[in-house]
Amino acid sequence: MRDLATGNIITDWKDHHAELFGRHSLHLQHSLDSSELFTNEALAKLIDNSPRNTYHVNTRSSGPDGKRKRREGEFGNLSGKEILEAVATGDIWINLRAPQLADRRYGELLEEMYREFEARVPGLSTFRHLTTILISSPGIYVPYHVDVPGQMLWQIRGRKRVWVYPAEQPFMPQAALEKLILGEFHETDMPYHDWFDEMATVYDLEPGWMLHWPLNCPHRVENHDSVNVSVTTEHYTRAIRNSYGVNYANGLLRKAGFSRLEQQKSGLVMLAKLALAAGVKFSGIRNKASKPYLIDFQVDPASPDSVKDIAPYELRM
Ligand SMILES: [Fe+2]
Repeated sequence: MRDLATGNIITDWKDHHAELFGRHSLHLQHSLDSSELFTNEALAKLIDNSPRNTYHVNTRSSGPDGKRKRREGEFGNLSGKEILEAVATGDIWINLRAPQLADRRYGELLEEMYREFEARVPGLSTFRHLTTILISSPGIYVPYHVDVPGQMLWQIRGRKRVWVYPAEQPFMPQAALEKLILGEFHETDMPYHDWFDEMATVYDLEPGWMLHWPLNCPHRVENHDSVNVSVTTEHYTRAIRNSYGVNYANGLLRKAGFSRLEQQKSGLVMLAKLALAAGVKFSGIRNKASKPYLIDFQVDPASPDSVKDIAPYELRM
């Protein structure tokens, strides 16, 4: 059974959007907010059915150095319904990273979303689709960062403000992007200054609106004073994969002392760089054991910010 009343996921698509797709930010209307997959009941059930290794729940606390530090938590024995209540009164955010494992309809929806874009944008072919459902407390913010794959942000409930910055110097230093791709950098390690905001495009994202920005555009997000339910989707195209490979190779070359590295989009040098990146990546030379997460709180609607400290333990995901 189809869960979308209109039969179209993007509801205000115009032909000229095809020329803008991937090159400029697109702020479009969609119908996911009326889908039965995103009611409170459906989300509670999704939380109930999400395996431990597919979700993150986070909060921030001030460290002794005055810096706000991200903490990892667990749902404990709470039901999905109780978790949603804790989000409404707390200071936490939840990432459900593989909703399709709990309910395959989320995976079907993801494929349908990309099918629709591919039908409307001539020549577009995407792969390695991923989706994450974000459920976050009023006032939660996501600091300045860059994502490696193609990204879209779909607002289901609540309102948030999104700042999108150009994917160019000085907002996105090439060397920083290369480090991010080599896994030597966290998404949020990108250098950021307040004055960058003068050059940002700002969107107030309302339920039923989505945003798709060009590859590697830095961005940051602040929830307004409401619980937010949002969906992110990720994808690759051949061009994105090539850009990833060239940046990966450039990162290796930069570490070897080379500078003035170009971002080839085609040709023999690009192919040589892709071969270098693939050779190193699949040789396992750079493989590091993934770091475990330190889980140090449990969601608890009765505690301040819905955060109850627990004895810390390590979890590999
Ligand atoms: Fe992002």
